[in-house]
Amino acid sequence: MTEPKKLFVKTYGCQMNVYDSQRMQDVLAPLGYQPVDSAEGADMVILNTCHIREKAAEKVFSDLGRVRKHKEAKEANGGDKMIVAVAGCVAQAEGAELMKREPMVDMVFGPQTYHRLPEMVARANRAVGRNRIVDTDFPAEEKFDHLPEQVSKQGYSAFLAIQEGCDKFCTFCVVPYTRGAEYSRPGADVIREAKQLVAHGTRELTLLGQNVNAYHGEAPNGGEWTLGRLLRELAEIDGLDRIRYTTSHPRDVDEDLISAHRDLKKLMPFLHLPVQAGGDRVLQAMNRKHTNADYRDIAARLKDACPDLALSSDFIVGFPGESDKDFEDTMEIVRDITFIQAFSFKYSPRPGTPASAMELQVPEKVKTERIMRLQALLAEQQLVFNQKSIGKEMDVLLERRGKYEGQLVGKSPYMQPVHVSGLPESALGQIVRLKITEALPNSLGGELVDATRNDQKSERNVA
Ligand code: 5AD
Ligand code: SF4
Repeated sequence: MTEPKKLFVKTYGCQMNVYDSQRMQDVLAPLGYQPVDSAEGADMVILNTCHIREKAAEKVFSDLGRVRKHKEAKEANGGDKMIVAVAGCVAQAEGAELMKREPMVDMVFGPQTYHRLPEMVARANRAVGRNRIVDTDFPAEEKFDHLPEQVSKQGYSAFLAIQEGCDKFCTFCVVPYTRGAEYSRPGADVIREAKQLVAHGTRELTLLGQNVNAYHGEAPNGGEWTLGRLLRELAEIDGLDRIRYTTSHPRDVDEDLISAHRDLKKLMPFLHLPVQAGGDRVLQAMNRKHTNADYRDIAARLKDACPDLALSSDFIVGFPGESDKDFEDTMEIVRDITFIQAFSFKYSPRPGTPASAMELQVPEKVKTERIMRLQALLAEQQLVFNQKSIGKEMDVLLERRGKYEGQLVGKSPYMQPVHVSGLPESALGQIVRLKITEALPNSLGGELVDATRNDQKSERNVA
């Protein structure tokens, strides 16, 4: 048997990239590539990159410097070749430019092309001398049609991409340029893949898409399914116990989706719904297509349909033209709505996006002051929510071993990591009812409520 080839994939950025990296490993497995944890000595290194903010993109170039050293060491004295590839959104945005700037990179390919990886790898390996490859084509449907079934075991909690790309064109964002137009996978494909994952032990599924609630996939019997409808279909799958989806746009929250939150017990009561900012002038300049009042209304309707629903959000501070008053509007909407988790960023001008050319860029110092205030408020809200969990009972899907002997870690319906001690490892994969006894800023601790009341279905996972 030939030795397996070593494949090192480093992932930057969003959940979609994590998913794509996994699928790249699936595509390369039949060629004998097995994942390893370090670039040192690897036969192939893929940096799956993110272009969303300047810092993320810069990190790629500093990492490439380190990879170059490993490549030189491996190839010294006639050693085997190391293929170095840059994938993802930096590759898509900077393609040919990147090849010029980084002569040791063998391959640059965008997010819609990795189903063609085997062919690219064969070309790179066959080459006498060097054969550098750039593939930054677009059509997402082709990619999904040609990917193999998921072979990498994703575990009890799995991701499933149902939608890709974005047509919203927020003026700060590179996604519509790097990921292309919105594309939804046909409903039947999604259901089939979900069933396969469940057959391999998945109990929680997170549907992924850059704009996931814009989903409008072909229905099996003609017509289209909305996300709400797709969620109803998925909820019918036996053995699938929890469903989530991310990331959503407020504008695409429709009645179908709201009623799914009212009706489906399997749909977790936690929703990542970025608002980005609170000031209406800023929201308009961002081309967000919703106002402060629209967002409040959507949040109220969702909470009305599902009273224990909690929200998380993304924020950008210091968008061009953001005044003190605009920023206070952001603080106010946070105070009024309360977010139990959040990501917040200083505005980072991205080449080619409309906002990068806007006047009235906000000074760095002001951005720093604002983000510190916002993050303090968000951290406080998160801690208060966690503390309020003490004494409550929650269903927790146990997913992995903890840091300490005898400790297991799972996820609450609200995505909080929950630690529990004294359960056997055979409990991994079970959904157990825990009473929360401890709250930290980023996690909870709990105790088993009553073993006899715990999840019957998961017995199949008990060794
Ligand atoms: N600057 C700062 N943050 C940004 N985001 C997207 N583009 C930018 C940018 N140019 C943030 C948004 C988005 C999240 C994924 O990244 O908040 O929701
Ligand atoms: Fe970017 Fe806006 Fe599309 Fe989200 S909705 S991916 S922020 S353009």
